[in-house]
Amino acid sequence: MQIDGTATALDAIVASPFARLAKLLGGIEPGAKPIDLSLGEPRAMIPAFLGPILQERLGEFGRYPPIRGIPPLREAISGWVGRRYPSLKRQIDPERHVLPLTGSREGLFSAIFPALARKDVAGKPAVLIPNPFYQAYAAAAAASDTEAVYLPAGSETGFLPDLNAVDEGLLKRTAALYLCSPSNPQGAVAGLDYLAKAIELARRFDFLIFADECYSEIYSDTPPPGALEVAHASQGNFANVLAFNSLSKRSGLPGLRSGFIAGDPEFIAAFGRFRNVACPQMPLPIQHVSVAAWGDEAHVEQGRARYRENLDIADEVLGSRYGYRRPAGAFFLWLDMSRFGGGEAAAKTLWQDSGVKVLPGTYLARVEPDGSNPGKDHVRIALVSDAPTTREALTRIAVRLG
Ligand SMILES: Cc1ncc(COP(=O)(O)O)c(C=O)c1O
Repeated sequence: MQIDGTATALDAIVASPFARLAKLLGGIEPGAKPIDLSLGEPRAMIPAFLGPILQERLGEFGRYPPIRGIPPLREAISGWVGRRYPSLKRQIDPERHVLPLTGSREGLFSAIFPALARKDVAGKPAVLIPNPFYQAYAAAAAASDTEAVYLPAGSETGFLPDLNAVDEGLLKRTAALYLCSPSNPQGAVAGLDYLAKAIELARRFDFLIFADECYSEIYSDTPPPGALEVAHASQGNFANVLAFNSLSKRSGLPGLRSGFIAGDPEFIAAFGRFRNVACPQMPLPIQHVSVAAWGDEAHVEQGRARYRENLDIADEVLGSRYGYRRPAGAFFLWLDMSRFGGGEAAAKTLWQDSGVKVLPGTYLARVEPDGSNPGKDHVRIALVSDAPTTREALTRIAVRLG
């Protein structure tokens, strides 16, 4: 992929959407006081109860942490999973089913290596990635020299990949399917039937589901279903299914770098061995803080209320313009800019005329073999600001684009 005239070999494999946005808008003066809606960084209040724990545990920065995490952390995570998905109460064994991650991103990246090692395939192994997608999936495929197969996830298929469209030959050489629900950028939620279908395929063709559920707690009314509860309902175990989650979105703590992977015990064991030599441990004070954060829902509900308020503003200000529909989960709007020359042109216009920074969808997507790009017409807008800023930004967009 040639990004620009000076793209390096690395850029050709993975390119940061934000670096591309900076380049697109470089040299353009914003037409009003800037409002940045491009980055999905929650800007919530830090829960006050975390400070004293950190203070009390400061001395533990002086020790190397265990890669598998301290038992109270694994217990806190398994307890949370059981409360969030009641059918999983006491089903998640902290010893066998859970590993802490320093945020879900490093896990989503590094899990590809043990995933490739567990399955022998004829030909080149493949990894299935929804298109558009979170860029770490592509980085994992590139770094592991795995064929990345991008599955279109546009409006025709409810913004999720059409799993019936993947042919058997490909499924046989598939090591893993990344499934993002609620999805970034479209805000789509995979229902129980969809998850059941994905899991059935994974078990039939012995690949892994990497269920990226880091937006699972960001929803308006109905908590999105999880891959682990569906895996367990169908077969009484977690074979072939791994869920990734973190405190970044749930607790508004992206800087803490605290997440987990949970599911298939054989894979968790293999990944634990791999991580022990290849991946970062979570600092002990952060582990203690994380125990408290997974144990509290009040601050999560406060965060959810803020996102709900922002979406109420979007309902009011945008109505049905630009293909707007209230997302079932996560905090992004995925707006159709085809009437305005596509996502890149619209991002430039909005920056230049209104000072609003949005992310062109094309930077989150890849060109399909037929030449189409499921992100080209869209922009992604992260509703992570406070309500007045959100109202101001969306109003500027509606005024400018009409
Ligand atoms: C879809 C998706 N997955 C994973 C992540 C990584 O989050 P973290 O590493 O903070 O858990 C993000 C962050 O923006 C994301 O949007």
